[in-house]
Amino acid sequence: MNVVVINASPRKKGNTAELCRNVVEGAQDNGADVEYIDLYTYDFKGCMSCFACHLKKNSENPLCFWKDELKDVLQLCLDADAIVIGTPIYYGSISSSAQAFLERLLFAADTYVLDEEGNRVSKIKREIKTAMIYTMNVTKEMDYFNGEDQLAIMI
Ligand SMILES: Cc1cc2nc3c(=O)[nH]c(=O)nc-3n(C[C@H](O)[C@H](O)[C@H](O)COP(=O)(O)O)c2cc1C
Repeated sequence: MNVVVINASPRKKGNTAELCRNVVEGAQDNGADVEYIDLYTYDFKGCMSCFACHLKKNSENPLCFWKDELKDVLQLCLDADAIVIGTPIYYGSISSSAQAFLERLLFAADTYVLDEEGNRVSKIKREIKTAMIYTMNVTKEMDYFNGEDQLAIMI
Protein backbone atom coordinates (compact mmCIF):
# COMPACT_ATOMS: atom_id res chain seq x y z
CA MET A 1 0.00 0.00 0.00
CA ASN A 2 1.35 3.45 -0.97
CA VAL A 3 0.56 6.27 1.42
CA VAL A 4 1.36 9.95 0.89
CA VAL A 5 1.49 12.06 4.04
CA ILE A 6 1.54 15.81 3.48
CA ASN A 7 2.52 18.30 6.16
CA ALA A 8 0.85 21.52 5.01
CA SER A 9 2.29 23.53 7.89
CA PRO A 10 5.24 25.89 7.45
CA ARG A 11 6.76 24.39 10.59
CA LYS A 12 8.73 21.21 9.92
CA LYS A 13 8.76 20.35 13.62
CA GLY A 14 5.44 21.82 14.74
CA ASN A 15 2.19 20.30 15.99
CA THR A 16 0.99 19.31 12.53
CA ALA A 17 4.30 17.73 11.59
CA GLU A 18 4.29 15.72 14.83
CA LEU A 19 0.89 14.23 14.07
CA CYS A 20 1.86 13.60 10.44
CA ARG A 21 5.02 11.79 11.60
CA ASN A 22 2.85 9.61 13.84
CA VAL A 23 0.77 8.66 10.81
CA VAL A 24 3.97 7.80 8.92
CA GLU A 25 5.13 5.55 11.76
CA GLY A 26 1.75 3.85 12.05
CA ALA A 27 1.49 3.25 8.33
CA GLN A 28 5.04 1.92 8.10
CA ASP A 29 4.47 -0.36 11.08
CA ASN A 30 1.57 -1.81 9.11
CA GLY A 31 3.72 -2.45 6.04
CA ALA A 32 2.89 0.60 3.94
CA ASP A 33 5.34 2.46 1.71
CA VAL A 34 5.12 6.07 2.78
CA GLU A 35 6.15 9.31 1.10
CA TYR A 36 6.37 12.27 3.49
CA ILE A 37 6.02 15.71 1.97
CA ASP A 38 6.78 19.04 3.66
CA LEU A 39 4.54 21.09 1.40
CA TYR A 40 6.07 24.46 2.29
CA THR A 41 9.42 23.41 0.80
CA TYR A 42 7.79 23.32 -2.67
CA ASP A 43 7.51 26.43 -4.81
CA PHE A 44 4.00 26.38 -6.27
CA LYS A 45 0.77 28.29 -6.64
CA GLY A 46 -2.87 27.27 -6.47
CA CYS A 47 -4.99 26.56 -9.55
CA MET A 48 -4.16 29.06 -12.32
CA SER A 49 -7.55 28.50 -13.97
CA CYS A 50 -5.88 27.63 -17.29
CA PHE A 51 -8.58 24.99 -17.82
CA ALA A 52 -6.14 22.68 -19.70
CA CYS A 53 -7.38 19.84 -17.49
CA HIS A 54 -10.96 20.51 -18.65
CA LEU A 55 -10.21 20.38 -22.40
CA LYS A 56 -11.95 17.48 -24.11
CA LYS A 57 -8.62 15.98 -25.24
CA ASN A 58 -7.51 15.83 -21.59
CA SER A 59 -10.76 14.43 -20.25
CA GLU A 60 -9.06 11.20 -19.08
CA ASN A 61 -5.98 12.76 -17.45
CA PRO A 62 -6.40 13.65 -13.77
CA LEU A 63 -2.96 15.31 -13.43
CA CYS A 64 -2.77 19.11 -13.34
CA PHE A 65 -1.09 20.43 -16.50
CA TRP A 66 0.61 23.41 -14.81
CA LYS A 67 4.37 22.77 -14.69
CA ASP A 68 5.93 23.72 -11.38
CA GLU A 69 7.40 21.98 -8.36
CA LEU A 70 4.03 20.57 -7.27
CA LYS A 71 3.67 18.37 -10.33
CA ASP A 72 5.63 15.42 -8.88
CA VAL A 73 3.72 15.64 -5.60
CA LEU A 74 0.41 15.55 -7.46
CA GLN A 75 1.56 12.51 -9.42
CA LEU A 76 2.53 10.76 -6.18
CA CYS A 77 -0.98 11.44 -4.85
CA LEU A 78 -2.67 10.10 -7.98
CA ASP A 79 -0.59 6.88 -7.69
CA ALA A 80 -1.28 6.51 -3.96
CA ASP A 81 -3.75 4.25 -2.18
CA ALA A 82 -4.18 6.79 0.60
CA ILE A 83 -3.47 10.49 1.07
CA VAL A 84 -3.24 12.09 4.51
CA ILE A 85 -3.06 15.89 4.71
CA GLY A 86 -2.16 17.65 7.92
CA THR A 87 -2.79 21.37 8.20
CA PRO A 88 -2.84 23.98 10.94
CA ILE A 89 -5.98 26.07 11.14
CA TYR A 90 -5.32 29.71 10.28
CA TYR A 91 -8.20 32.12 10.85
CA GLY A 92 -10.76 29.36 10.85
CA SER A 93 -9.55 27.62 7.69
CA ILE A 94 -6.82 25.37 6.33
CA SER A 95 -3.38 26.84 5.57
CA SER A 96 -3.00 28.70 2.27
CA SER A 97 -0.64 25.99 0.98
CA ALA A 98 -3.14 23.26 1.84
CA GLN A 99 -5.82 25.21 -0.02
CA ALA A 100 -3.55 25.79 -3.06
CA PHE A 101 -2.60 22.12 -3.07
CA LEU A 102 -6.24 20.97 -2.94
CA GLU A 103 -7.20 23.30 -5.79
CA ARG A 104 -4.52 21.74 -7.98
CA LEU A 105 -5.29 18.14 -6.96
CA LEU A 106 -9.07 18.33 -7.13
CA PHE A 107 -9.80 20.55 -10.11
CA ALA A 108 -7.65 18.48 -12.50
CA ALA A 109 -9.35 15.27 -11.36
CA ASP A 110 -12.81 16.77 -11.52
CA THR A 111 -15.16 16.96 -14.51
CA TYR A 112 -18.41 18.77 -15.17
CA VAL A 113 -20.02 15.47 -16.21
CA LEU A 114 -22.80 14.32 -13.86
CA ASP A 115 -23.65 10.70 -13.07
CA GLU A 116 -27.23 9.42 -12.70
CA GLU A 117 -27.35 10.68 -9.11
CA GLY A 118 -26.22 14.16 -10.11
CA ASN A 119 -22.70 13.81 -8.66
CA ARG A 120 -19.75 15.08 -10.67
CA VAL A 121 -17.78 12.26 -12.30
CA SER A 122 -14.12 12.07 -11.26
CA LYS A 123 -11.35 11.20 -13.71
CA ILE A 124 -9.87 8.99 -10.98
CA LYS A 125 -11.39 5.57 -11.53
CA ARG A 126 -10.25 3.89 -8.35
CA GLU A 127 -10.64 4.57 -4.67
CA ILE A 128 -8.02 6.70 -2.94
CA LYS A 129 -8.60 6.87 0.77
CA THR A 130 -8.21 10.34 2.25
CA ALA A 131 -7.88 11.79 5.71
CA MET A 132 -7.32 15.28 7.04
CA ILE A 133 -5.48 16.18 10.25
CA TYR A 134 -6.25 19.61 11.69
CA THR A 135 -4.29 21.28 14.46
CA MET A 136 -5.49 24.45 16.16
CA ASN A 137 -5.33 26.30 19.45
CA VAL A 138 -8.85 27.04 20.55
CA THR A 139 -10.91 24.76 22.77
CA LYS A 140 -13.74 22.70 21.34
CA GLU A 141 -16.25 25.13 22.88
CA MET A 142 -14.62 28.14 21.19
CA ASP A 143 -14.16 26.38 17.87
CA TYR A 144 -15.70 28.12 14.85
CA PHE A 145 -13.94 25.85 12.38
CA ASN A 146 -16.21 23.26 10.82
CA GLY A 147 -13.85 20.40 10.04
CA GLU A 148 -16.55 18.18 8.60
CA ASP A 149 -17.35 20.68 5.85
CA GLN A 150 -13.68 20.90 4.90
CA LEU A 151 -13.36 17.14 4.70
CA ALA A 152 -16.42 16.98 2.46
CA ILE A 153 -14.36 18.70 -0.27
CA MET A 154 -12.16 15.63 -0.44
CA ILE A 155 -14.87 12.99 -0.76
C1 LIG B 1 -1.62 32.92 11.12
C2 LIG B 1 -2.19 32.01 12.18
C3 LIG B 1 -3.56 31.92 12.33
C4 LIG B 1 -4.14 31.06 13.29
N1 LIG B 1 -5.48 30.97 13.40
C5 LIG B 1 -6.02 30.09 14.28
C6 LIG B 1 -7.43 29.93 14.38
O1 LIG B 1 -8.20 30.57 13.67
N2 LIG B 1 -7.93 29.05 15.29
C7 LIG B 1 -7.08 28.32 16.10
O2 LIG B 1 -7.58 27.55 16.88
N3 LIG B 1 -5.75 28.43 16.02
C8 LIG B 1 -5.20 29.28 15.12
N4 LIG B 1 -3.84 29.39 15.01
C9 LIG B 1 -2.98 28.49 15.81
C10 LIG B 1 -2.54 27.27 14.99
O3 LIG B 1 -3.57 26.69 14.25
C11 LIG B 1 -2.01 26.18 15.91
O4 LIG B 1 -1.02 26.69 16.77
C12 LIG B 1 -1.42 25.03 15.11
O5 LIG B 1 -1.37 23.88 15.88
C13 LIG B 1 -0.05 25.35 14.56
O6 LIG B 1 0.43 24.26 13.83
P1 LIG B 1 1.99 24.02 13.57
O7 LIG B 1 2.62 23.74 14.91
O8 LIG B 1 2.06 22.88 12.63
O9 LIG B 1 2.53 25.29 12.97
C14 LIG B 1 -3.27 30.27 14.10
C15 LIG B 1 -1.87 30.39 13.95
C16 LIG B 1 -1.34 31.25 13.01
C17 LIG B 1 0.17 31.33 12.84
